[in-house]
Amino acid sequence: MPQPQFYDISQEAVEMATWRWAKPVRFFEVCDSTNNRALEWAREGAPHGSIVVTDHQTEGRGRAGREWFSLPHLASLLFSVILRPNIHPEDLGLVSLGMGVAVSLAFTERKTNNRLRWPNDLMVRGRKMGGILSESEISGDRVDFVVVGVGVNMRISRDQFPRELKATATSAQVETGRSYDRAEVIAGILIQLEPILKDLDAGRSHNILNSYIKLCETFGKTVSTDFGGRKVKGQAVDIDDHGGLVLDTGDVIPMGDIHLE
Ligand code: BTN
Repeated sequence: MPQPQFYDISQEAVEMATWRWAKPVRFFEVCDSTNNRALEWAREGAPHGSIVVTDHQTEGRGRAGREWFSLPHLASLLFSVILRPNIHPEDLGLVSLGMGVAVSLAFTERKTNNRLRWPNDLMVRGRKMGGILSESEISGDRVDFVVVGVGVNMRISRDQFPRELKATATSAQVETGRSYDRAEVIAGILIQLEPILKDLDAGRSHNILNSYIKLCETFGKTVSTDFGGRKVKGQAVDIDDHGGLVLDTGDVIPMGDIHLE
């Protein structure tokens, strides 16, 4: 059935734009969450690299059990990639950071200057434009699969954000006044992801971490978090080999949410 005209994404548009990636695509006009759809597909055996794309989510999920806000009809970039990397579970953080690098570089290439707030919030002028949610299944010491979900605010005006996000969120439209073809942006992100996945599989995590460090805006900032029932506070100074945030106190925050002090 032909898609309504306002869609820059459809099964066909995504398949065509991602021809170089050449992996199965499932497109939904609306779904609960692309991560949910991808988790289900991965359990059924979806091959490495399969992607799930939607125009709108009714139960979009963010990190730490938060809701991920999106609007229908061109407003939001929402997709998940199913990966089956040959890595130890303790290196799963590198997959998330790697996707952060890919998203950041793809938007820089499309003239949206951005930085990453650890672990992988896409930030533009201090506001959050996008985020990444990775969810994995593990058997023993191997990773069965990881679903990496990407959400970016595209055509959302300041007043369309809910009250609780108005002061902290932004969109590509607000920042650049330009409109983007979402299928083309997904393809651009996957092009950036390809060499990162090669590095991951070949054990060249230092390449991923070096790229990440160049894009991350969190170093030098005082951050705090609750972990292991303990409040940890210090200046972010480095990333460890598994993507954890190293503080000047010697503490390492393995993965999770931080507050900027
Ligand atoms: C964050 O909290 O920063 C992560 C947000 C991740 C949102 C994306 S949108 C596509 C995918 N499906 C979801 O339900 N969540 C992720």
